[in-house]
Amino acid sequence: MEDQQKKYLWWQEGVVYQIYPRSYQDSNGDGIGDLPGILQRLDYLQWLGVTAVWLSPIYPSPMADFGYDISDYQGIHPLFGNLDDFDALLREIHNRGMKLILDLVPNHTSDQHPWFLESRSSRDNSKRHWYLWHDAGPDGGPPNNWLSVFGGSGWEWDETTGQYYYHAFLKEQPDLNWRNPEVQKAMLDVMRFWLDKGVDGFRVDVMWHMIKDDGLRDNPPNPDYLPHMSTYEQLLPVYSTDQPEVHDLILKMREVLDSYPERMMIGEIYLPIRQLMTYYGVDGRGAHLPFNFQLLQLPWEAPRIAASVDQYEGLLPDHGWPNWVLGNHDQPRITSRVGCEQARVAALLLLTLRGTPTVYYGDEIGMRDVPIPFAEVQDPQGLNMPDKNLSRDPARTPMQWDAGPNAGFTTGKPWLRLGAGFARENVKAQTDDPYSMLTLYRRLITLRQQEPALMTGAYAPVYSDQQVMAYLRGSEGQQRFLIVLNLSHRPAYFNLKDPDMQGTVELATAPEREGMTVGGAVSLAGDEAIIVRLN
Ligand code: NOJ
Repeated sequence: MEDQQKKYLWWQEGVVYQIYPRSYQDSNGDGIGDLPGILQRLDYLQWLGVTAVWLSPIYPSPMADFGYDISDYQGIHPLFGNLDDFDALLREIHNRGMKLILDLVPNHTSDQHPWFLESRSSRDNSKRHWYLWHDAGPDGGPPNNWLSVFGGSGWEWDETTGQYYYHAFLKEQPDLNWRNPEVQKAMLDVMRFWLDKGVDGFRVDVMWHMIKDDGLRDNPPNPDYLPHMSTYEQLLPVYSTDQPEVHDLILKMREVLDSYPERMMIGEIYLPIRQLMTYYGVDGRGAHLPFNFQLLQLPWEAPRIAASVDQYEGLLPDHGWPNWVLGNHDQPRITSRVGCEQARVAALLLLTLRGTPTVYYGDEIGMRDVPIPFAEVQDPQGLNMPDKNLSRDPARTPMQWDAGPNAGFTTGKPWLRLGAGFARENVKAQTDDPYSMLTLYRRLITLRQQEPALMTGAYAPVYSDQQVMAYLRGSEGQQRFLIVLNLSHRPAYFNLKDPDMQGTVELATAPEREGMTVGGAVSLAGDEAIIVRLN
């Protein structure tokens, strides 16, 4: 009863949809998606049922890292449109009852940002200490052994001023010095600029990187490093990331958000679950949603997934709201990781777990990673470590709208080639097909939004084995649902120990299962998952 009286906020009740703006919809034929293009597709998003849109960066940028290298935090890149286009988009999103989340990149700027141009101009420039400048080590090399995520040393020598600067990513992305109060104020002002416009929240890029060990201690070697791994993983980044002081910064960001009604912050954090939990902050005054990337990272095996869902649920602080992610612009797409059939099971999992789901654009139509010939690779991570298959381009290809030229994405030459299967895998072809991935996503989202038990109700594990996992959703006084998923390709059976647990299949990866009664023994085909409305 008590649970039903709780008031949940939009970011707890909703479904987030990530758009990679370069690849969503081009409106002017330059082959690159833009804000007016997204505006044209809002009806689709509303039809799909998602309630919040997160846009990857749209700000002015030299595009060394496709917008994650920002040269002006308060503008719009002309490729994407202008501030008027932005205002129109925000207005229309709000008119549809949806929310807009922007990407905030506080850890680093572009090397073309005026702050950095000033900072590197001389050692006594007033912005010198806005970045991390240090003298060479005793041997004339970098100040310590910290590595760049994108390959090579994290330190770049600056000839003019005779010091090194630190960059956790590209050398074109110098890290800001968050120990400097002027930097803190500047970035909090950036937040206010967008919040004043009415933006509903931020996805904060690499939140766990924002502050580093003041003593610049060397990172220790990673004993589990294997040659196929990225060169960055040779060391454990214990001194360059996840420092205790980061939580003071997050609190300051949170205070800004809390001075506006119902605004929120997602933190991008790749850390083990226990460390991740600390990002909810003391008394829940940290990130509202520290991104939970377990479904992106774990082997797709029932025992592993079931155990980690339970561990995550168990470790959540009282005030912590869960969240789940199946794909993003940095990771291989789910369909390519687990196959088309199992991707349907994954969709059912994502949209029935307790906590806010994030859907990556295109996953709802089963888009796959598109092989990009080496000569066409654009992603710096792929180009810098060419022998490791680390390019993120395959998961960033244009959205597939229809079977026409360039899948309806552009009338020009798309910035990345389209998937060969777009004639089949596209929104138009799947809209009225009862067996399509799109129909499955739309029905799952609709059911989740209609049923309080699925939207915000309690989670309780029921069963798991080598193939199957099963759990209950619903709090006292609510209609309850049993969810059973076969995470393998082979048929599976299990016995419901509780004789009172009986019901009817409400929604299934194979729609012909729907309406069947369930009780006693449950059998599932390979790659099958069901949602049972319990009697
Ligand atoms: C994380 C972003 O998701 C990724 O795309 C980017 O390259 C790095 N942060 C650097 O900003």
